[in-house]
Amino acid sequence: MTRTVLVMANWKQQGSEPAVKAWLHGVNALELTQISRVLCVPLPYLVALKQQHSKLQSKVLAGAQLVSPWTGGAYTGEVSAAMLKEFAVTYTLVGHSERRQWLQEPAASRRAQIVALWQQQITPVLCVGETAEQYQHEQTFTVLQQQLAEVFDHLAERGPLVLAYEPVFAIGSGHPLSATQAQAVHQQLRLLLQNWYHAADCQQIPILYGGSVNSTNAADYLRYPDIDGVLVGSSSLQADSFNALCVAIQNAIRERRFAEV
Ligand code: PGA
Repeated sequence: MTRTVLVMANWKQQGSEPAVKAWLHGVNALELTQISRVLCVPLPYLVALKQQHSKLQSKVLAGAQLVSPWTGGAYTGEVSAAMLKEFAVTYTLVGHSERRQWLQEPAASRRAQIVALWQQQITPVLCVGETAEQYQHEQTFTVLQQQLAEVFDHLAERGPLVLAYEPVFAIGSGHPLSATQAQAVHQQLRLLLQNWYHAADCQQIPILYGGSVNSTNAADYLRYPDIDGVLVGSSSLQADSFNALCVAIQNAIRERRFAEV
């Protein structure tokens, strides 16, 4: 099974316009054939990303960290999916745990965001994950099932999707979940998805791991069959460390595909 391997950089509320330009310059210099790279910048930097993108003929795709649940109109502060589309955004995060935690974003909003993105042919990257307490009480499966159900039970349509599994306690903590543990959860997630997507489509949905991924541990995850890429926060901010992480992943994929033949 060959799914798209995605390496997504999530800058969160960090960076600057010069940093976007320097990053893209550095990252673009590295030719990679087997993975797609996506940079999710704070919204104002989509302008610089688009300019630099055409200047460098970059293969790095533009991503966003949020989208309005509304398609347009008098909603102060919101940015619609159609606006993101103008800046060539191809992937957008939905339901990142930081937005769940700090902004109490409700499930209805996540659903509306996903539909709005599909209408603009932008792929939602739905983030799911349990807290440390839920993990300790062995509630991982129940929590993930609930987080998927509250979205897909209430949506009549289906569309392209990326799932990002990010245990909350692994984000920004320097304590990632081991690759073996992540694989076990990803395998369950792929099965769970069959409640809402056709089995064949579930095989095509990339499931990314996120939470303290860096250039040293990144390759471990890609050695497992249900881990199709990573969502990277702090280790994605500098072009050098991001490049090192991508090279490690590319090598791991080569080994994995060689082993599959
Ligand atoms: P981290 O963040 O890599 O800094 O742990 C990951 C994320 O929040 O997507």
